[in-house]
Amino acid sequence: MGSVSLKIGDGTARFRRATLCSSAVNLLMLFSVLTTNLFALYAFTSSPKSHPFHQTHKNISLISEQVSLILREIDSSQKKLVQMEKQLLGYENIDLSRPNIANELKIFLQRHQLPLGKDSRTGITELVASVGHSCEKSVDLLSEYMSYKVNGLCPDDWSLGQKLILRGCEPLPRRRCFAKVIPKMGFLSFPVSLWHNVSDKVLSWSGIGCKSLACVNGKKLSKDCVGCFDLGNWNENQRYVKARGKNDFLINDVLNLGSGGIRIGFDLGGGSGTFAARMAERNVTVVTATLNIDAPFSEFIAARGLFPLYLSLDHRFPFHDNVFDIVHTGSALDVGGRPEKLEFLMFDIDRILRAGGLFWLDNFSCASDEKKNALTRLIERFGYKKLKWVVGEKINGGEKPEVYLSAVLQKPVRV
Ligand SMILES: *[C@@H]1O[C@H](CO)[C@@H](O)[C@H](O)[C@H]1NC(C)=O
Ligand SMILES: *[C@@H]1O[C@H](CO)[C@@H](O)[C@H](O)[C@H]1NC(C)=O
Ligand SMILES: *[C@@H]1O[C@H](CO)[C@@H](O)[C@H](O)[C@H]1NC(C)=O
Ligand SMILES: *[C@@H]1O[C@H](CO)[C@@H](O)[C@H](O)[C@H]1NC(C)=O
Repeated sequence: MGSVSLKIGDGTARFRRATLCSSAVNLLMLFSVLTTNLFALYAFTSSPKSHPFHQTHKNISLISEQVSLILREIDSSQKKLVQMEKQLLGYENIDLSRPNIANELKIFLQRHQLPLGKDSRTGITELVASVGHSCEKSVDLLSEYMSYKVNGLCPDDWSLGQKLILRGCEPLPRRRCFAKVIPKMGFLSFPVSLWHNVSDKVLSWSGIGCKSLACVNGKKLSKDCVGCFDLGNWNENQRYVKARGKNDFLINDVLNLGSGGIRIGFDLGGGSGTFAARMAERNVTVVTATLNIDAPFSEFIAARGLFPLYLSLDHRFPFHDNVFDIVHTGSALDVGGRPEKLEFLMFDIDRILRAGGLFWLDNFSCASDEKKNALTRLIERFGYKKLKWVVGEKINGGEKPEVYLSAVLQKPVRV
């Protein structure tokens, strides 16, 4: 009792593990089947030769002993293989027998067998709680996050949850406590809400350095959000309607490229939601993916009457294949790290975009010409039609010029 060790990770993780080592296991199995047969052959054919007169019948018990030895060997090799592969992927179990593990975490992660056995529709036999496998690396923080009074008020700790998400612990476990409530009064009706200043009082400021929008507006939060919470700011409220330079495309022009079929869209790293607001005015519903890094992005977007999706860019998009008519992104594509990281992101964007849908890359800053060429090659591999393609340069104090890429690309039909 008290020493439950549960495997975490969803079906995806298990599936991946299976495919990664299945070829090795297959080889091993083939090898062991061969050796087993050879051994049996040897045992059956050689014993009469060595004892031609005294032992007329084969020593069956000796053979079966050897066979079971081989089977044990195979079994332990398979276990070793799984272990090696786990180390390779850094994929481990959350060890719930560790000291100081919150009880709520144990309860949440407990597996439940289905009462009637295997479900015929889905093929599953047990219910497994969904939690990111990287949570294992931050298990103390996770345990802190899961320490609360059941049925009571949660600690005011959304930023602790975000800290976990940024460390790859995504999705977070569910909790059984009431999140802090902020009174939200006096919301304006849609579409007036799209461009009206949001009151500091309806936003949550705990865990954020700034305590007001005026303070947040004085900071450069990201390339796509400089003063983006000030809806009276020309830069913000003229975006997508008036071009500041050749890298700016106008929303109406892009919608015309979609020849009327643009109804739902997804904006990655969409700042304070201005893209979604301009789209909403044109009856296009846009979901804006954002975390609350240094500012209350999610609540601000919601206060404008728009749809914030609280998700890191490392998370597979929670949408089915081929659903969106348009995907828009700017600096969010700047994922850094190995080139594979950007490839995974690009393939996921491609997945959720329908054939004929538009991918709008908005003034993406490439640190160098080589970076731009690498991105161009990657995009070209997807076979999108380049409806718009503009490369801009900015000279910054004699250094190498910064390169900006804006493009509208149309997803092809692949057969
Ligand atoms: C068969 O092998 C077992 C174990 O090696 C041995 O104890 C037994 O005497 C053998 N029987 C015959 C008939 O050779
Ligand atoms: C909106 O708020 C900003 C500061 O965040 C302020 O400069 C601006 O005047 C306000 N606009 C309106 C219409 O209240
Ligand atoms: C593109 O982004 C850069 C840096 O973020 C900015 O200096 C430039 O004005 C932007 N260009 C346009 C046309 O928006
Ligand atoms: C948006 O939809 C409303 C209601 O159907 C319609 O009256 C309005 O003209 C539409 N606006 C645009 C820009 O298509």
